[in-house]
Amino acid sequence: MSDAPPPGSPVVVLGIESSCDETAAAVVERRADGSGRMLSNVVRSQWDEHRLFGGVVPEIAARAHVSCLDALISQALTESGTRLSDLSAVAATAGPGLVGGLVVGMVTGKALAMAAGRPFLAINHLEAHALTVGLTEDLRPPYLLLLVSGGHTQLLLVRGVGQYERLGTTIDDALGEAFDKTAKLLGLGQPGGPAVERMAAGGNAARFDFPRPLAGRAEAHFSFAGLKTAVRRRAMELVPLTDGDIADLCASFQVAAMDAVADRVGRAMEIAEARLGPDSPRRLVVAGGVAANKTLRARLDRLVTLRGYSLHVPPAGLCTDNAAMIAWAGAERLTLGHVDDLSAAARPRWPLDATAPAAIGAGVKA
Ligand code: KG4
Ligand code: ZN
Repeated sequence: MSDAPPPGSPVVVLGIESSCDETAAAVVERRADGSGRMLSNVVRSQWDEHRLFGGVVPEIAARAHVSCLDALISQALTESGTRLSDLSAVAATAGPGLVGGLVVGMVTGKALAMAAGRPFLAINHLEAHALTVGLTEDLRPPYLLLLVSGGHTQLLLVRGVGQYERLGTTIDDALGEAFDKTAKLLGLGQPGGPAVERMAAGGNAARFDFPRPLAGRAEAHFSFAGLKTAVRRRAMELVPLTDGDIADLCASFQVAAMDAVADRVGRAMEIAEARLGPDSPRRLVVAGGVAANKTLRARLDRLVTLRGYSLHVPPAGLCTDNAAMIAWAGAERLTLGHVDDLSAAARPRWPLDATAPAAIGAGVKA
């Protein structure tokens, strides 16, 4: 296995993402001054393969990754004008995620690294989300990160590459999952987030007073199961539902969920300020698929204005799962002299902050 390039030199990294239901490949350059440039970014969603089952089926996901990954990597290399021999390293997601998909991406990444005679990097998918703003805005830590996707809902204090403190996590459902389940309950299509947001736009958010779970609590954790149950109960009372009822349920659910998120982020800001000191920069970064939600953006805009923070949200295509973020995390790690062995294993569970105590409740996400 070859070594990392000398510290500070520019690097070009191929990234591979296959941890869930998106297969992706990308090439990213990190210049000597630390700024980044995306040379290509190819993503293929598997949603059509899973639609029939109403959710991601791990076996189908792994097979779909196998069938298209080689072609996506070729496309990413061609579009970037890069040959294998131009690469400084190959990076692949090693976890957390579905083990079948992780193995497909890692085996492919290791084979390419070996063929090119370059280092291999096993990337934590959450770290990649956490560092994406370095690529899109050249924003450097420290900052507070709100990661809200279908699989994760976390608040992380990002102090530097490899330095993460988890301030909060969900004790039950992820936020995107709560949107998806609410959509399913109300007979809307999947993915549920955009469907609920569309219906909510025509609804009355004040009609139902749903709970704001964990609001005011000292820890910056999240919970969405009780809110989901409250929506279900109300919907059952109203059956048969009119389109107006569905729109009002969606709008009331969405505003309650985002109020709860804003309350939890506000608490995390206080914890982060206590950890970093009063003079530290006040920056909130949002990543994950739910970052596309306009009500969330509006709610966080109000919060950051009130607290004197700046808000940073990467473009939608880099908030959802992609390989540019994997390549970028690889480039950041490589620059610091980190490389992984070809014996690196897939890690279905891989918390960014291994020291964080378990949150209360069962089913806590990593
Ligand atoms: O990050 P992502 O693309 O994939 C992973 O979960 O890894 O996030 C997908 C999640 C889904 O649960 C989807 O319903 C949610 O993000 N989502 C939204 C919106 N767009 C996507 N949730 C609320 N509002 C949206 N506009
Ligand atoms: Zn993700």
